[in-house]
Amino acid sequence: MKIAVPRESDAVETRVGATPDTIKKLIGFGATVTVEKGAGTGSRISDADYEEAGATVAADTKAALADADVVLKVRRPNADELKAMKKGALVIASMDPYGHEDDVKAMAEAGVAGFAMEFMPRITRAQVMDVLSSQANLAGYQAVIDGAAEYGRAMPMMMTAAGTVPAARVFVMGAGVAGLQAIATARRLGAVVTATDVRPAAKEQVESLGAKFIAVEDEEFKQAETAGGYAKQMSEDYQKKQAELVASHIAKQDIVITTALIPGRPAPRLVSKDMIASMRQGSVIVDLAVERGGNVEGAKPGKVATVSGVKVVGHLNVPGRIGASASALYAKNLLAFLETMIDKEAKELKPDWDDELVTATVLTRDGKVVHPAFAEATS
Ligand code: NAI
Repeated sequence: MKIAVPRESDAVETRVGATPDTIKKLIGFGATVTVEKGAGTGSRISDADYEEAGATVAADTKAALADADVVLKVRRPNADELKAMKKGALVIASMDPYGHEDDVKAMAEAGVAGFAMEFMPRITRAQVMDVLSSQANLAGYQAVIDGAAEYGRAMPMMMTAAGTVPAARVFVMGAGVAGLQAIATARRLGAVVTATDVRPAAKEQVESLGAKFIAVEDEEFKQAETAGGYAKQMSEDYQKKQAELVASHIAKQDIVITTALIPGRPAPRLVSKDMIASMRQGSVIVDLAVERGGNVEGAKPGKVATVSGVKVVGHLNVPGRIGASASALYAKNLLAFLETMIDKEAKELKPDWDDELVTATVLTRDGKVVHPAFAEATS
């Protein structure tokens, strides 16, 4: 059982699919592991750290991937990587497949079995494999750190001999995994925190973190959650009412952090240019949804834009901005999933293709796109 860990080719990617910790475990299961030179640099892991854990370091991607039965990656493989992989290899990554159907097809044509970690069902057994949660949690934390860094004022109230510094007012829009961590982080820094969400379950969670919940709580709101616990697309009427409430609230905020997403759809637009214009000069908005179309009008992917004197932060790959922590958790998520496909007595790979974790995540197999969400789009 040969496992490969290539260096991520995307320039903004600091993370890596395995750490010395997870590699030790894989070797314990009977695997041999090859890591591409420099794969851990962005996550503060040196080649020597990997070697010490028992991995071999390969000089380039091609050498790392040659003959590998399993490839552990952060992002969807590109054409060169696919070319270097052997047919039948299991490729486990955050595939981000929506809108990239051609790349999914290319994986099928390369004959690899590609697994999209973000499709892992949110059931108890798979919590340890939930990359969306592990990475969103860190993104929520980092959003507050980034917001505070741009703010130019202190976050907590400080009463000093030279005068009083008021506490920053932070408003978190979208109280899922990222939003809840943003609330907790902003509270730890001493800010006065409010938050909103369209899912009724979020209210209690927001309040339990010591923040105030702000939302239009009508009948539609009370029904607004799918069986999977995700947000539903809200009606136009609700969005209008919500926007009015938010508009008056936002004008009084110092830092706004937006994290709102709806699975499989573009991010909902929550903050308009008019709302931004109502904020005080020097306020900050951090848009964590910028890669999915953005919650904030005028947010620019990969940039800190200035809109009406307000800084609109649109960093890409926010979990990657704390790469070492993000990789440690991400690599554990991958390890936990791969472990379910290893026969530990025989020390060999034995995926159960009928297991619900496998059927939910596998995109391609035996030369075909097999995932129901993509099989049609690519045929
Ligand atoms: P997400 O990343 O899909 O969305 C982020 C948040 O944005 C969600 O809370 C969503 O309700 C909110 N949102 C969407 N449209 C909005 C709008 N127009 N205005 C304001 N907010 C809006 O969601 P995430 O963070 O992945 O979590 C969704 C739920 O799943 C949460 O309840 C979370 O606690 C739960 N969960 C369950 C897990 C499990 O294993 N059972 C694991 C992780 C999360």
